[in-house]
Amino acid sequence: MSHVPVLLKEVIHYLNPQPNENFIDATIGEAGHTMAILDKNKPNGKVLGIEINPDLFQKLQRIENEDSKLNVKERLIVVNDSYANLKEIVRNNNVQPIHGIIFDLGICSWQIESSGKGFSYQKDEPLDMRFNPNQDLTAAEIINFWEIEKIEQILREYGEERYSHRIVVALKEARKKERIVGTQQLVDLLKKTLPKNYDNRRIHFATRVFQALRIAVNKELENIEEGLKQAVQILEPKGKIVVISFHSLEDRIAKRFFKEQEKNNELQILTKKPISPSIEEIKKNPRSRSAKLRAAQIN
Ligand SMILES: C[S@@+](CC[C@H](N)C(=O)[O-])C[C@H]1O[C@@H](n2cnc3c(N)ncnc32)[C@H](O)[C@@H]1O
Repeated sequence: MSHVPVLLKEVIHYLNPQPNENFIDATIGEAGHTMAILDKNKPNGKVLGIEINPDLFQKLQRIENEDSKLNVKERLIVVNDSYANLKEIVRNNNVQPIHGIIFDLGICSWQIESSGKGFSYQKDEPLDMRFNPNQDLTAAEIINFWEIEKIEQILREYGEERYSHRIVVALKEARKKERIVGTQQLVDLLKKTLPKNYDNRRIHFATRVFQALRIAVNKELENIEEGLKQAVQILEPKGKIVVISFHSLEDRIAKRFFKEQEKNNELQILTKKPISPSIEEIKKNPRSRSAKLRAAQIN
């Protein structure tokens, strides 16, 4: 497993797993956070891990044999589903009471580097971007067939892309000539359309468009709302929720949700300000640089 878990020390600090307590890893990915939790909640505490991607789910089956000292086989349950179905997953898997849940949003290194699904503007792959290959909607479908106005809206809302109008004007022309099926075709179009000095070169010019497509394809923002809502309902009193987000839209959802629930006396916010990785962590793991952690405790 190659994914380096982000803000690991901080996740453990806020979840504070004790022997024999049970936890949910709503985005188990490559199990980085999960393995650290399993180390703390031994000998009999369980982790219920949820992973939407079937390839990662298959890979996760193998870690059962990796660490016999932790007795992972008995203590880790992995489900191939979406955390938007959290309540039902918990009901079906008999892991209760639950003392904490972590959401480490977004995608993991394997998806970017090896899934072949077009998550990276640095590779030439089909414009797919589905976490769950069983769903119909792909990024290519959006780019080629959605109404231009709808595409402009997702670029603006999910990508916070300032040049969304300029991009869809170019896209409208390009669509008359050919189907846009690969990531590099899209990157070339953006390169021709966007200013040379895009955002003072602070980020790659394709970043926001790729982010917007990924969010739209996977309904990521709706899922986060749903997952958080259900998390509050399945946790024990004093149970912890930890959310790690990687862009401002995700962080805003977590922030607003916690504030609202605190107002309703459902929980107490543990992080007045979001926690960011240290400079040392960012140096070791550049992917962590935009991470923000928020934590709360059920009343
Ligand atoms: C940032 S990675 C998690 C990495 C993990 N914490 C680790 O240390 O290895 C996020 C994972 O969540 C998965 N994911 C995304 N949306 C999901 C959803 N709605 N339900 C369940 N898993 C989801 C992604 O496929 C990805 O593997």
